[in-house]
Amino acid sequence: QEHNKGVKHLCEMGITKVPKKYILPTLERPDNSITTELHDVTNLQLPVIDFAELHGANHEQVITSLAHACQNYGFFQVINHGISSNVIDEMIDVGRRFFELPLKEREKYMSTDVHSLVRYGTSFNQMKDGVLCWRDFLKLVCTTEAHSQWPSSPLDFREMGVEYARETKMLFQSLMEAILESLGLEEKNTHNKTPKTHQESGNNKHSSKREENYDNIIKDIGDGSQLMVVNCYPPCPEPELTFGMPPHSDYGFLTLLLQDEVEGLQILHKDHWVTIKPRPQSFVVNIGDHLEILSNGRYKSVMHRVLANSKKSRISVASLHSLAFTAVIRPWPMLINDENPKRYKDTDFADFVQYITTCDSKHKNFLESRK
Ligand code: SIN
Ligand code: FE2
Repeated sequence: QEHNKGVKHLCEMGITKVPKKYILPTLERPDNSITTELHDVTNLQLPVIDFAELHGANHEQVITSLAHACQNYGFFQVINHGISSNVIDEMIDVGRRFFELPLKEREKYMSTDVHSLVRYGTSFNQMKDGVLCWRDFLKLVCTTEAHSQWPSSPLDFREMGVEYARETKMLFQSLMEAILESLGLEEKNTHNKTPKTHQESGNNKHSSKREENYDNIIKDIGDGSQLMVVNCYPPCPEPELTFGMPPHSDYGFLTLLLQDEVEGLQILHKDHWVTIKPRPQSFVVNIGDHLEILSNGRYKSVMHRVLANSKKSRISVASLHSLAFTAVIRPWPMLINDENPKRYKDTDFADFVQYITTCDSKHKNFLESRK
């Protein structure tokens, strides 16, 4: 089946119409879903977090802006994050060069096994999607043992990818600490430290004795998993008929997204789909399902999607940060009270894998299944 080889391949074969497999029913097309006048779509300024200010005199102000961004948008942009422009430009560049390799080379990494450490594929959830979307991807598990399986071509791919992953993980950890502070978790816990022996006592759902304190959540976050996804959206001959990526929310704590200069990302904000204009050298950061659960719904994992376009190829690199495979996430006890009863069931990564392998992703998302 030609479409199993992805949309880059279809373009290389010179198609001029979108194949049937990619055509959405009329009511689900980008223009016909909840959206309004064009001025709403173009005018949204995403909150900007100046990371350098986080550790300076304006710390409190930045934490307040962060709380506002997380609560009202679920998305924000991070500038002055300390990751060099070299590392950023080269990550986009090496990602682009990977997709420019001959199909024969890319195909080596093709897999439909959700557990494989490296996976080249197409669409959103290829096995489940009724209608395919206009996107090819390379998913990379970011652990030391996985690195040796990352593509060896382009020659600088691994070195660049490893460096980029390392730096985004550090940025993620700092942002998470700031976000926990914005939820008021750090403050109230500093006087309540658990002895080391408790912290070391395993972190799976069966050890109910494990205390929920700030140190433990920080440890779970640091020990969590990182998945890097390089996305390629080639020009689409009929972009009004399909999506680059259909509406979805992200699963983990936070996603750090790097986009090239081509727009396409839209977020659902006050019932409108609004475009997030790429801002050079910045990260688009969004709240994932884990953080919505941890915050007991104070911060929302917001739906987003990617539009296809007929002119330019678009590259993005998403770094997804989640829990370790066995760790459990539940609403933070301190955020549960009479006005805010516990809103979500406990969950772990295994629940998510179960969900993606059994559910039709179209009408339900993972978070809904945890309410
Ligand atoms: C994603 O939602 O994971 C990717 C978004 C993008 O490519 O801009
Ligand atoms: Fe996403």
